[in-house]
Amino acid sequence: MTDGVPVRALAVEVLVRIERDRAFAAPLLAAKEGRLPPRDRGLLRTIVLSALRNRSLLDHVLARHLSRPIETLDTDVRAGLRVGAAQLLLLERVPPHAAVGETVGAVRLRVPRAAGLVNAVLRKVASEGKPPRIDLGPETDPLARLALETSHPEWLVRRWVADLGLEAAEAALLSDDAEASVDVLLDPRGEDPDVLLARLRHGGLEGKRSPWAPLAVTLSSASAGSHPEIATGRLAVVDVAAQAMCELVEPAEVVVDLAAAPGGKTRTLLATGRARRVVALERNPTRTRRLAAGLQAAGRAEEVLVVRADSARPPLPRGAFRSVLLDAPCSGTGTLRKNPEIRWRLVPTDLARLAATQRALLAAALDLCAPGGSVVYVTCSLEPEENEEVVAAVVGERADVSVERPEPSRLPAPLARALRPAGVLRVAPGASNDGFTATVLRKDGGSR
Ligand SMILES: C[S@@+](CC[C@H](N)C(=O)[O-])C[C@H]1O[C@@H](n2cnc3c(N)ncnc32)[C@H](O)[C@@H]1O
Repeated sequence: MTDGVPVRALAVEVLVRIERDRAFAAPLLAAKEGRLPPRDRGLLRTIVLSALRNRSLLDHVLARHLSRPIETLDTDVRAGLRVGAAQLLLLERVPPHAAVGETVGAVRLRVPRAAGLVNAVLRKVASEGKPPRIDLGPETDPLARLALETSHPEWLVRRWVADLGLEAAEAALLSDDAEASVDVLLDPRGEDPDVLLARLRHGGLEGKRSPWAPLAVTLSSASAGSHPEIATGRLAVVDVAAQAMCELVEPAEVVVDLAAAPGGKTRTLLATGRARRVVALERNPTRTRRLAAGLQAAGRAEEVLVVRADSARPPLPRGAFRSVLLDAPCSGTGTLRKNPEIRWRLVPTDLARLAATQRALLAAALDLCAPGGSVVYVTCSLEPEENEEVVAAVVGERADVSVERPEPSRLPAPLARALRPAGVLRVAPGASNDGFTATVLRKDGGSR
């Protein structure tokens, strides 16, 4: 309970806000958890993330006990049914009578007339028991089955299988449904990273070095995220593959980071020494403030010029920078583990709209780049429309730019494995990492 509000009522509220207001789960959960006693925090998070990560599976089970499609029900009622079914079918620690009773109570607070329906349906789900039963005819298309079993939209499953192959796509889909680890960036500033790690261990932060990137550490427990080193911002939480993307950036006195907030890659560039200083652009005012505050907390503010600007029209001299990073806004299909709501929100037509923005940003990045310099184009999307097709369109319009294939022996092993013949790096989401796509673009002329 928090302020008299039970955990299930909060879970229903969070799911409703995600669906109705297009809110994001991570910040909403963080805000609600702050009001809960520690004992209940994990339960709220587990219920909400389980309901989002397994949505189509839960809906499939619920549909057997509903006389109309779940999509036609009131949003609050739909959320209540998913909260109840998630506990009954996926959570070991919640006894069925508590799952049903508490959930019906939560629905009664929001939609009193629907309490009877939710009670009846959840009782039937409870009587079927675990594991969730999937009833599909023998003729069902295997990819439709995979979509249901892993709770991803079928259109996304079909794309990933076509691009990654069945085995790798299946592994990526399954990893999206698992608990995400928390990774941090060591910032040793001349100290031996292992000595720094030992000191952090002494302070209660257990973790191990990751093969993905030189300063990446995967914490042993996701709850370590509340450790003071992280809570105060001295240590940055940065996914291991996000850190690995910075290994593609050409070392330079000044690196321009054109989409910088919240600052994970800016901080990685400084910590690894790839940049002595960074010019960090960000358009969103709140995120710009967050970026500046994060750098301040890390003691890195002096080395970064934070500029609030539209990077499609950057207020910087053209052709002046040897090394530019564009970590573009994107669909985020590589981050479904951490942002499970995206899979239910995204539609294929979103990709063309995002690509138009990405093309404008990449063209501006290339304009800033000096002859002989390079631009690293990164997205946390696996979709060709936002990656290969953006690069092809922009490079096709210029005679002075080409795709450069990184030298595999210079890359961390997991990154080298993600390198494709045409030079693009497609990192599928995995048990320990988010998914990304990256391309290095080289501008002709100048000296190397
Ligand atoms: C993928 S995130 C960047 C993550 C960041 N590089 C990091 O590693 O922490 C993309 C960022 O680009 C910003 N953005 C979107 N459109 C922009 C534009 N036209 N100009 C500058 N920033 C933009 C978004 O607000 C968002 O903060």
